[in-house]
Amino acid sequence: MSDQTTPDFVPIPLSKLYPDEALCTDIYLLINSKYIKYKNAEDFISVEKYDLFLSKNVVSVYIAFEDSLTFMNWLKETKEKSIQEVVDNVGEEFREEAVAREEIVERVFETFAAEELNKENVSILKSQADELIESISKKKIPLTILARLTKKSPSIAEHSVNVANISVYLALAMGHAHQYVLENIYMGALFHDYGKAKIPSKVLEDPSNITYTKAIEQHPIKGALLISKIDGLQDQVTTIIAEHHEQHNGKGFPNAKKGEDIYELSKIVALANVFDNICANNMQKGDKEMYKQAIKFLEHDKGKKFDPDFLAPAIEALYLAYK
Ligand SMILES: [Fe+2]
Repeated sequence: MSDQTTPDFVPIPLSKLYPDEALCTDIYLLINSKYIKYKNAEDFISVEKYDLFLSKNVVSVYIAFEDSLTFMNWLKETKEKSIQEVVDNVGEEFREEAVAREEIVERVFETFAAEELNKENVSILKSQADELIESISKKKIPLTILARLTKKSPSIAEHSVNVANISVYLALAMGHAHQYVLENIYMGALFHDYGKAKIPSKVLEDPSNITYTKAIEQHPIKGALLISKIDGLQDQVTTIIAEHHEQHNGKGFPNAKKGEDIYELSKIVALANVFDNICANNMQKGDKEMYKQAIKFLEHDKGKKFDPDFLAPAIEALYLAYK
């Protein structure tokens, strides 16, 4: 029952909110059974805070009940704006794929923010990935669209989806056409940083601490271990997660694997991960310059971090997608 003096609050899944967007109403957090005002209208939630919520397993924020309608309209508008940003990248004829991508980002956030890995969410993500990959081949969509089905954002959920789409694009460009292989690479890429998202926020707060360094070093193994507990995912998926920071020259982590000891699909995801990270660091430079910088970085590698046999076709494919 509500009384006259205390407003009622309604939960809003954090996965529905976009970081760095000016809020339309005040936002509250539920702390020790009390609603505490966290942000005023016109404020925004930064990407850093957004990702911190992930590590704190914060799934929802709250708004006052009387703001519900305004808030729902605002949510719809910001979602449309976000989809439009991707449509501008791929073209109006691929709006359906841009919408599908948005749904995957939301689901990734929910999955990463939940305290425990939710089997149902993983299986929904698997179906969403299957559908996206199937629609690319059925509708004969140009492969480069997959690489452009990305959004500039340093948020971990957006980054995970970017890496998944770029990885599948690279895999296709290198001749991996089997649905099974593409699904595995998609899921491996989507969850590559799950272990990082599960580093406790207390550890993340102090990068000078040895616990922080160890947690970062071990995040591929931690993520792979957590994912391996989910039925229905193939070993390839966990291998990709475990190896996404290994390098061709043996200077990667956590196991300093070398060259041919690294699984081929892990190499693709490792490259897509570095590529998207460099893009995120150069977002302010505009699309053309951002892609140029990221490709230039890969060209300078000359087979140190990345397998030289695989680097040349990967760079060629990236040029094709982002020219
Ligand atoms: Fe990582």
